[in-house]
Amino acid sequence: MNIIVTSLKGGVGKSTSSIYLSAAAVELGYDPVTLIDADPQASSAEWLEVWPLPGVTVVEAPSERTAIRAMGRVEGMGIVDTPPGNERITQAVVALADAVVIPTRAGGVEYSRVLATLDLIPAGIPRGIVICAARLGTNDLEAAIVWWKEQKVEIWGVIPERVGIAAGPEARLSRDGLEGYGAVLHQALRGWR
Ligand SMILES: Nc1ncnc2c1ncn2[C@@H]1O[C@H](COP(=O)(O)OP(=O)(O)O)[C@@H](O)[C@H]1O
Ligand SMILES: [Mg+2]
Repeated sequence: MNIIVTSLKGGVGKSTSSIYLSAAAVELGYDPVTLIDADPQASSAEWLEVWPLPGVTVVEAPSERTAIRAMGRVEGMGIVDTPPGNERITQAVVALADAVVIPTRAGGVEYSRVLATLDLIPAGIPRGIVICAARLGTNDLEAAIVWWKEQKVEIWGVIPERVGIAAGPEARLSRDGLEGYGAVLHQALRGWR
C-alpha cells in the first residue's frame, strides 16, 4: 500500500504532511511504515534523522527509478514524499499509488498548480487535497473550501496553522497535527479497508 504526497508546487506542506501521515500510520497500527523520500532536497529524511519516529523507516529515493523500486519493496504502509516541479517523477509514482494526497494552501494562486497536479493522476486512483497551515475562520479558507467543492475535488483534511507544526525537526510532533493527519489517512484508506 503506497500513499503519494505530491504537488507540483513547493512549500505547500508535502514534507510536513509526509512525516505526519507516517506517524499517523504507526498510530493506526500499520507495521512496518516506510517513508520514501523522493525529493533530492531530502527534507523529510533529514527531519527523521534528527527526530526518528518509532516504527518508521526512511528510504531516500531521489530519482524515478529508485522511487519506483522503493515503492515495490514496501510492506505494510509506504508514504512517498515527492519533489516540487518535477512532472516526470510525479507522474511515474502517482501511476503506482493506492491513494494520492495533495497538500495545498487556501488562496487563489494555489488553484492552477493543484489542478495541474490532479491532471497527472490516472482515473480511478483515490485523491484528495489537504489544506495545510489553514487559518480557521478566515474568508480565504471558507472560499477555498467552497471552490474545491464546486470543482468536485475531495477535501481530505484541513490542518490548522500551528507553531508546533511549523517548528519542523526542532520539535516533537504536535497532537493537533497527528489527529488532523490521522483523519486524512482514514479518508485516503476509505476504499481499501
Ligand atoms: N499546519 C502547519 N502549520 C504551520 N506551518 C506549517 C504547517 N504545515 C506546513 N507548515 C510549514 O510550511 C512550510 C512548507 O512546508 P513543507 O512541508 O516543507 O512543504 P513542501 O515539502 O511542500 O515544500 C514549512 O516551513 C512548514 O513548517
Ligand atoms: Mg518538501
